[in-house]
Amino acid sequence: MAITRRKFDALIIGAGGGGLRAAWQLAQAEARVAVVSKVFPTRSHTVAAQGGVNAALANVSADNWHWHMYDTVKGSDYLGDQDAIEYMCRAASKIVYELEHMGVPFSRLDNGMIYQRAFGGQSQEFGGGQASRTCAAADRTGHAILHSLYQQNIQAKTHFFDEFFAIDLIRDKHGFVAGALVLEIETGEALLIESKTTLIATGGAGQIFRTNTNALINTGDGMAMALRAGIPLQDMEFFQFHPTGIAGKGMLITEGARGEGGYLLNSNGERLMQHYAPNAKDLASRDVVSRAIAIEVREGRGCGSDKDHVLLKLDHLGADTIKKRLPGIRALCQTFLNIDPIDTPIPVYPTAHYTMGGIPTNRFGQVMVPEQLGPEESIPGLYAVGECACVSVHGANRLGGNSLLDILVFGRSAANHMIAFLQENHYHQALDMASVDQAMQRLERWDSNNQGNAKESVADLRNTLKKVMEEHCGVFRNEEVLKQGIEKVKDIEQRLQYVCLQDTSKCFNTAKIEALELENMVAIALATVISAEARKESRGAHSRIDYTKRDDVHWLKHSLYFKQDHSIDYKPVHMKPLTVESFPPKERVY
Ligand code: FUM
Repeated sequence: MAITRRKFDALIIGAGGGGLRAAWQLAQAEARVAVVSKVFPTRSHTVAAQGGVNAALANVSADNWHWHMYDTVKGSDYLGDQDAIEYMCRAASKIVYELEHMGVPFSRLDNGMIYQRAFGGQSQEFGGGQASRTCAAADRTGHAILHSLYQQNIQAKTHFFDEFFAIDLIRDKHGFVAGALVLEIETGEALLIESKTTLIATGGAGQIFRTNTNALINTGDGMAMALRAGIPLQDMEFFQFHPTGIAGKGMLITEGARGEGGYLLNSNGERLMQHYAPNAKDLASRDVVSRAIAIEVREGRGCGSDKDHVLLKLDHLGADTIKKRLPGIRALCQTFLNIDPIDTPIPVYPTAHYTMGGIPTNRFGQVMVPEQLGPEESIPGLYAVGECACVSVHGANRLGGNSLLDILVFGRSAANHMIAFLQENHYHQALDMASVDQAMQRLERWDSNNQGNAKESVADLRNTLKKVMEEHCGVFRNEEVLKQGIEKVKDIEQRLQYVCLQDTSKCFNTAKIEALELENMVAIALATVISAEARKESRGAHSRIDYTKRDDVHWLKHSLYFKQDHSIDYKPVHMKPLTVESFPPKERVY
C-alpha cells in the first residue's frame, strides 16, 4: 500500500511549550516546519502548568542568575550538569521578557512589573533567605504561555498536523533520522513525514503511575520512540513526586499555594515541615516535602478517617488573595472535592509529577550517543527538548518553576542549532524503506488485532501497570520491592502481546492509539524501575531505604538505560560550568 508522503525542513513531534517555542524560532527563520501533535496543540500538557516560570528578574526580592544556578544545582542533588544549568539560568530573564512581548498575560505587581512568587528551593545569596523568583500568570501560567506560543506560530505559518500520532522515527539510507511515520487519528491513515532535521518534544510519562498530575496524553511516546531507535534513556530512576496532589485523585495543587503562604498540617494540627526543613519549611525542595508527608502518614499522623493524607491550609491567606492569586486551585477544589479553600484546608498527598530523566542531550538539544558507541557525540539532525529530554538541568530533583524555563530556553537553543544545521544540509536524503516497513508493522499489528483468545483488555493491563509502578517505584524504594517491580513489569510486557482492543464492532481509531501508548508506557516503566533498582544510593527524588545516604564516591554519575538488553551504563556528570566556579557537592539541607 502506498503511503502518502510530505516533506518539511524540520519536523517537531509534540506541541507543548518546547515544541512550539522551537517551531516559532524555525518558522521565523523561514524554515518549512511541521508540528505533529496527538491532541489539538493548546491541549498539550504545558497548559496545565500552574505556578510559574523561574527567572531572576528581582522584581520582588533581590536576585540574580548565579543564585538561581546555585539553587538549581543544589536542588538537583548535584547530579545536574552545571554547564547546562548555567546556560539556562543566564537565559531566563531574556526568555521571560520575550514572552511578555509576545503577549503572555503575566500577573502584575502594583508598580506594573511582572509578579513573582516564592517557590520551593529558592534562595538569595547562595542558600540564604527565601527568594521570590517564579513569574506567574495567577495559577494558570502554562495556559497563558501555551496559548501565546500557539498564536505566534499561527502568525509565523507553522504547519500543524493536529491529532496525528507519531508511531516511530524513520531513518535515511545512512542510518540517520529522516522523519517519522505518523497516524492521522481521525481517518486511521498513515502518513510519512520526511524531514531534514527532527525534534522530539513529546513531554513526560506521568501516566505510568496510578496517581499523577499528568494529562492522559503523557505516555512517554517520544522517549519510547528513542529507545526503539537504539538510543538509551538517561537518569530514569529520578521521577518527581509533587508533594501536593489532591489526596487519592492526584490533581496538582500548585506549590504556589505554599509560595503565597499556605502550609501543611498533620493530624495533630502541627506544621509538619518545621521538623524536616527548619529554615525553608514548606518551601523546601519537592523531594524533601514529599518524603516528609509520606513519613507523617506512615507514622500515623495522617489526617482523615483513613489517616492517609495531610492538610494544606490556605484559609488564613484571605479570600482576596485566593481569588486573585489561586483562582484555578479554588476551582479545582470546588469541582473535585466540593470544598472551598477560602475556609477549608485541602487534603493532599504526594503524586507522580515529572520525569527528570529522558533522551540524553547537550544544551543545544542535540541527542547524544553514549560513550560505549565511541566518544560521546551527537546524532546529526536529531534533537530533543523538554520533559522527554535529559539535558540535564534537573538532575535528581527538579525545582518547581524550572520546567517551563527548561522548555523555553532549550526549545530556543535547539531551534537555533537546527537552523544552522539546515544551512549546511539542503537536501532530503533517500529513506531506508526497511525502517518505514518496521514502523508500519508496529501499526499493522493492531489492525489485525481481534478478540481471539485474549483475556485482557488494553485498559485492564494499563491499570495493572500503573498500580505496579505506584506500589513498586514510589517515593520510598528498596531492593526487594524494586526487583519484584521489575518482574511484574516484564510480565506485563509479555501479556501486552496478547491483549485485545475493545470490541472491534464498535472500535474507534483511538483504541488503537491507546494500545500504541501502552506499548510506550511499558517501555518507559521498565526503564524507570530497572534504573531505580540499579542505583544503590539515595539522591534527590530517588530514596532507597536500604541505601539511605547519597554516595558521591560511587554514584555521582548519570545512568543510561538500553532497551535491547535492559542493561545500564553510566556517564560522568558535567561538574564544570561555562564561566563560573563549579558548585561542589555538599550536604543538602533546607
Ligand atoms: O506546583 C506547581 O505549580 C508546579 C510547577 C512545576 O512543576 O514547575
